[in-house]
Amino acid sequence: MREVLSYSRRGSRFTPQQREAWEAHHAAWVIPDDAVDRPGFRLAEWFGREAPLIVEIGSGVGEATGVLAAARPAYDVLALEVWRPGVAASLAEAAAAGATNVRFCGIDAVWMLQHLVRPGGLAELWTFFPDPWPKTRHHKRRLVDREFTALVAERLAPGARWRLATDWTDYATQMRSVLDAEPALSGGVVPRWEERPVTKFERKGLEAGRTITDLCYTRG
Ligand SMILES: C[S@@+](CC[C@H](N)C(=O)[O-])C[C@H]1O[C@@H](n2cnc3c(N)ncnc32)[C@H](O)[C@@H]1O
Repeated sequence: MREVLSYSRRGSRFTPQQREAWEAHHAAWVIPDDAVDRPGFRLAEWFGREAPLIVEIGSGVGEATGVLAAARPAYDVLALEVWRPGVAASLAEAAAAGATNVRFCGIDAVWMLQHLVRPGGLAELWTFFPDPWPKTRHHKRRLVDREFTALVAERLAPGARWRLATDWTDYATQMRSVLDAEPALSGGVVPRWEERPVTKFERKGLEAGRTITDLCYTRG
C-alpha cells in the first residue's frame, strides 16, 4: 500500500437509520475487511457469479452507487469506501434503488486494485469527488496522481472507461495532466455525465460556488 493515504479516518458511529440498514443488508452486501486476507479470496464469489466488474472508489453515502448499479444489472459493482457509516448509508441507497449487483468493502482502494483486480480486469472505474486535499502540503494525499493512474491504466480492460468528477479546479487540472500523460489512456474533460446522480459532495461544491468538472478517459 502506498505510504501516504488518500483519506483520513473519520468517526465510525452509526445513526439509527444507518444501524438499521447495516443490520438488514451487511451480511449479503458487505465484504468484511478481513475476508480479503483469506487464502483463495475471489471477488466473484462475493457476487455469486462471474460478470464484468465496475469499481467505484470513495462511494461516500452511496447516492450514485445504488442508482448506477441498478441501471447495469449485467455488471458487478464493487464500491470501495473506508468510512463505515457511509457504507451503512449506502446499503439503504442500494436497497431503495433495487440494486442487487453491488458489494461494498472498507479496504483501501489502492491496495484493492493492486492486489485483488487482475490486469485488464476492470470494465469501468468511477471516481466521483475524491477527497480534494486543497492545502498544498496535502496535495501528495490526492488519490489521482501519476502512480495511481498507471495502476488504473493497467487494470482497465481495453476500451474500458475511467469516469471522474471533481469540484476543485486545480484537482481537475492535475487529473488532466496525469491522465493525459498516461500513454494507455485517451480522453479529457466531458460534459456532465447525465446519468450520474448528484451526490453530497457535488451539492457542497455547488453551494460553495465551485465549478464541477467531469472527465472521461478510455483505455486503448
Ligand atoms: C469527498 S468524499 C466523496 C464521496 C462521494 N463520491 C460523493 O460524491 O459524495 C470521498 C470519499 O472517498 C473515500 N476514500 C478516499 N480515499 C479512499 C481510498 N483510498 N479507498 C476507499 N475510500 C476512499 C473517503 O472516505 C470519502 O468518503
